[in-house]
Amino acid sequence: MTEQLDTLLNEARRFPPSPEFAARAQATAATYAEARADRLRFWADRAAELEWSTPWHTVLEWDPPHAKWFTGGTLNASVNCLDRHARGAKRNQAALLWEGEPGDRRVITYWELFREVGRAANALRALGVQRGDRVAIYLPMIPEAAIAMLACARIGAIHSVVFGGFSPESLSDRINDSKVKVLITADAGYRRGQVIPLKRNSDKALETTPSIEHVVVVQRRPGSSGDEAFAEMREGRDHWWHRLMQDAPLSCEPETMDAEDVLFILYTSGTTGKPKGIVHTTGGYLTGVAATTRMVFDLKDEDVFWCTADIGWVTGHSYLVYGPLANGATCMMYEGAPDWPEKDRFWDICERHGVTILYTAPTAIRAFMKWGDEYPAKHDLSRLRLLGSVGEPINPEAWMWYREHIGGNRCPIVDTWWQTETGAIVISPLPGITSTKPGSATKALPGHSADLLDSLGKRIDVGGGLLALTKPFPSMLRTIWGDDARYVETYFSKWPGRPDLYFPGDGAKRDSDGYFWILGRVDDVLNVAGHRIGTMEVESALVEHPAVAEAAVVGKSHELKGQAIAAFVTLRDKSKQSPALRDELKEFVAKKIGALARPDDILFSADLPKTRSGKIMRRLLRDIAEGRALGDVTTLADPNVVASLRDQYEDKEG
Ligand code: WTA
Repeated sequence: MTEQLDTLLNEARRFPPSPEFAARAQATAATYAEARADRLRFWADRAAELEWSTPWHTVLEWDPPHAKWFTGGTLNASVNCLDRHARGAKRNQAALLWEGEPGDRRVITYWELFREVGRAANALRALGVQRGDRVAIYLPMIPEAAIAMLACARIGAIHSVVFGGFSPESLSDRINDSKVKVLITADAGYRRGQVIPLKRNSDKALETTPSIEHVVVVQRRPGSSGDEAFAEMREGRDHWWHRLMQDAPLSCEPETMDAEDVLFILYTSGTTGKPKGIVHTTGGYLTGVAATTRMVFDLKDEDVFWCTADIGWVTGHSYLVYGPLANGATCMMYEGAPDWPEKDRFWDICERHGVTILYTAPTAIRAFMKWGDEYPAKHDLSRLRLLGSVGEPINPEAWMWYREHIGGNRCPIVDTWWQTETGAIVISPLPGITSTKPGSATKALPGHSADLLDSLGKRIDVGGGLLALTKPFPSMLRTIWGDDARYVETYFSKWPGRPDLYFPGDGAKRDSDGYFWILGRVDDVLNVAGHRIGTMEVESALVEHPAVAEAAVVGKSHELKGQAIAAFVTLRDKSKQSPALRDELKEFVAKKIGALARPDDILFSADLPKTRSGKIMRRLLRDIAEGRALGDVTTLADPNVVASLRDQYEDKEG
């Protein structure tokens, strides 16, 4: 961390906004001033830009650490994303420009999307889904994913989207945690030319999910209806999406929701083995995502906005679906991999669809850099006018490459820091106002308040410390599904006696201009290619294998993924260790959690470094995995263990 700090401290490049961009920008310096003068008024003004059925009576009820926003107000998220536009001038404008990996395409106007969502909402109601019921969505990146989310919102059902790359076991855990009634999935999806058998995965998950009453299956493979290989339909439980849609009426009366009614649950990794169901509500969430989409991405009517994130992650929820649609934007949506069929797929899409705003992740940018400048150079990217980055710290080198090779040294870059829990962007430049520095997310947005504290809660003006959000904001999580104590403990107990301070789990540095440089997680959560994975989740998976006695998992730096997973494993029977078992364990974890959690390295070791009280010293394991000099070993029960581990790790014989 110190090394990283020093490099960042020496970053001297500055990129002030161009006068042309600034002249037309949505946000102005007055936006900061307004928010500073009266924060609640600022958020109330943003909320008033939405369509409400009943106005709220109270902007904020803050009983730390529990907040309620816009109480007394009622609205419907799907009405805000669809009806408003379908009724007016945007009726015939494209809402979604979709491209499947194999090359199939669809353009869906606001009017069509409004109708499709109405039908899907009626179809769900016909299956018995009611206000407050949970619906799981396990789909590829196809328009039906957005339609399903909005259909749930229309009837007040709570959606819980599960990333299509997660394993059957991860899916069933998430279904069971919130007792989901209906699952929406597809026969299959495409990824890098492979067919992902989502329905088959679902069937495996459904063996252990007693709460599921119905399964709706979108037909992704042409003519696969009746294709037993991908979708074996169980009579009475399983229904084809297109059949339900055929019979459903187009028009669906929306539920009137309270501002604080739950809109969705989204699971994310924490420091224990069990993912947390992050709860977001309707009025505050929608206010936050709508306002930030317009401010941060400077959204205009003529834009084509492409957020490349999967709808399985919060970025897809907030900046592919709710934020852009609430603003009546035209969104690009792409199903597949960036290197399929060629490494220029993204640039081909940008050129053909005239994408003007691109929002992607550092791990992707680093991959593009490695593939070579020639891929973007083959395409006309001159329509692009703004670039965004999210998910992990972006290294200055990748930032500069993005600016030059994708942005033509012309487009501002917004490095946006936020989390599943914050719902919307919190720290980010505003294009047209902020002078950017490569690698810095700059400052808190208007209406937000971020600070840097030491572990005792003392403010750090300049230097490294713990990031804290010091004021409540509309889009923040309200609780963890079914576990409010964990909500309080995880996010609001870092600084004793200060239940008003939110701790995001990230370390950061602040420079003398007051700019934040996010350094990454300070807890036992890894960030692998922008995906949050708890070390405990991987450890729990490993010890479920019959050959494993004990496991410790740490992150190590990785050129493309940011972090990779290294696992130290003690076997029940040492004589069983072999390269084949190592591969088997990697596969075992991938099967249990999903391919995103597959460890890069597994080292077998007779012992793990432990303190005399038996605590595994992960700090030392990280030193070993990173190939660094070992830190303090004096508190170890047996100091010899680490030295021998390091020697083994270095020749990777295990
Ligand atoms: C990290 C994704 C540095 C951070 C929206 C955070 C970032 C976690 C940035 C949340 C950024 C996200 N710079 N780090 N611009 N954006 N992170 O919940 O560690 O999947 O806590 O939300 O990603 O990941 P999550």
